[in-house]
Amino acid sequence: MTKQEALSLLKQYVKNENMIRHCIASGAVLYDLAQKLGCDKELWQAAGILHDIDVELVGDDIMKNHGTKAREILKDKLDEQAIAAIEAHNEHANIRARSTTFDHALAAGETITGLITATAYVYPDRKVSSVKPKSIIKRMKEKNFAASVNRNTIMECEKIGIPLQEFTEISLSAMQNAAEELGL
Ligand SMILES: [Fe+2]
Repeated sequence: MTKQEALSLLKQYVKNENMIRHCIASGAVLYDLAQKLGCDKELWQAAGILHDIDVELVGDDIMKNHGTKAREILKDKLDEQAIAAIEAHNEHANIRARSTTFDHALAAGETITGLITATAYVYPDRKVSSVKPKSIIKRMKEKNFAASVNRNTIMECEKIGIPLQEFTEISLSAMQNAAEELGL
């Protein structure tokens, strides 16, 4: 599935602009992670873009059904390993624990986009291009900063053999390259 196909599918189900931007950011990060790891770039990008496709459908049931609904939507449209990773990015659904490289990359990658965006927002120009990797690492340690961003999930980068410093550099550069599209 191409990036454009993934995006238009996403937009059928997600209307919130910030959520769409979060999904685009996740797609950009996943693309670069796939490149780094020698995986399928287009598939990983699609998984990043589509991982929250059911978020507006599940409403208050987000803890339980987020991911499960996505599987129904994406069935026959996306490779099974991508659907499985999308399902497993919501650990509250209790489907199965994350185990594959794809699982960990998606969970860590989509989560760090929130920290990067929040870090950019405290710069005077609010631009992701102003952000340095060391600022992200510093914010990572401040528990009260963007408190909803789960640091443990970001640390799953180590399970795919990418240390936090490098993971941060890859993710930040992916978002900087997509800055225009992200409005950041
Ligand atoms: Fe997400």
